[in-house]
Amino acid sequence: MKIAVIGLGKAGLPIASVIADSGFEVVGVDIDERKCEGINKGENPIPEEMGLDVLIKRHGGKDLIATANYEDAKECEVFIIIVPLFTDENHIPDYRIMESAFRNVGRLLKKGDLVVLETSVSPGTTEERARKWLEEESGLKLGEFYLAHSPERIMTGFSVSRLKEFPKVVGGADRESGEKALEIYKKFVPNVHLVSSARVAEFIKLIEGCYRDVNIGLANELLKIADELGVDFYEAREYANHEYCQIHLPSTGVGGHCIPVYPWFLIKEMEKREKFDHARLLRTSRELNDEMVGYWAEKIVLECMGLNKPLNEVKICVKGITFREGVKELYHSRNLALVKLLMRKGLNVYVYDELFTEDEVGEMGLMWIEPEDADLVFDCFGLKMERGQCQLGR
Ligand SMILES: NC(=O)c1ccc[n+]([C@@H]2O[C@H](COP(=O)([O-])OP(=O)(O)OC[C@H]3O[C@@H](n4cnc5c(N)ncnc54)[C@H](O)[C@@H]3O)[C@@H](O)[C@H]2O)c1
Repeated sequence: MKIAVIGLGKAGLPIASVIADSGFEVVGVDIDERKCEGINKGENPIPEEMGLDVLIKRHGGKDLIATANYEDAKECEVFIIIVPLFTDENHIPDYRIMESAFRNVGRLLKKGDLVVLETSVSPGTTEERARKWLEEESGLKLGEFYLAHSPERIMTGFSVSRLKEFPKVVGGADRESGEKALEIYKKFVPNVHLVSSARVAEFIKLIEGCYRDVNIGLANELLKIADELGVDFYEAREYANHEYCQIHLPSTGVGGHCIPVYPWFLIKEMEKREKFDHARLLRTSRELNDEMVGYWAEKIVLECMGLNKPLNEVKICVKGITFREGVKELYHSRNLALVKLLMRKGLNVYVYDELFTEDEVGEMGLMWIEPEDADLVFDCFGLKMERGQCQLGR
């Protein structure tokens, strides 16, 4: 059996490699020709992904063939689609990339083939949109082909091990599709479970994101209250947490491709149905987390005012600009949003991030500084403010 993986990004390439490592021939389709060439030479485009180097060296260009041409996947019987789904400034998903991937697969579809969508989507997308795109292009009807959803639940940096250990779910657009997807996924993902529908599988992934967002929102709110009351939040959290109480860590907000995006899928769906009160907590948490940059900016300004320099001459270093510590990714980064907010306030803002070079920072239109040369350092991950060495007279 040949398996196609459509989209060889941070999510698609690990699964394509794990499938190849389980003994299947894999055709990876990606519009990025340079990336495909590299993979076929055994080069890993995501070096921070643990365990991926070995798999790409072992299978790239051999039993994992990367190509920009969908036609090269025409002999495949299984198509796993994991292309990005971006949202616009109003949080409305833009399905163009996904539609193009499905229509291209639809043109190759044969009776008995299975298509699985792994990109996180609004509930109903697989059963409605994906089914329609495939049926229109292939001339086949669901029942002649199988269609399922299996959300990707990896975590960048740990994707290979997560695929081997973390529970994965599959749900079909109909019963037969769910069973077929389970039978096939079991061959390369050890811990896989069948749920009653594609809609349930889609919902599972979104509510994980909502849980994280709401809980981070709660932690952020409690931090502000603790601060106002003169209470050490971290000390209180340590003793408050137990089996039934898991207060998360506060932050500058929530970034990345996933958590800040998924609650909106449900909020927008409820708005469409005029059930505005159904997603109030989700919306409030989103707003609360997004507003944290304002809270930190205010604290930074107050700290600067305590220094022995005019405010606009204080060199502020924002340390850590990625959305998560250790991951070189700026998508929806609230740390970067904090830098921009401070710049808009007319402050003298510099950045430092060990994952970026001075040149890379310059290309983003930002100024680089070594923390020891700043008057004030704000550590975005530790949420700590420190006076720089020059202020301390060292
Ligand atoms: N990265 C993660 O940690 C993560 C975790 C869970 C779920 N996901 C899901 O995976 C989806 C994809 O995320 P990613 O991180 O892999 O994105 P990515 O940007 O790293 O990769 C996407 C890949 O798709 C390719 N592509 C774009 N249009 C295409 C097309 N029409 N046909 C074929 N290939 C095409 C791009 O060239 C790119 O290589 C996300 O939308 C999300 O739902 C990602």
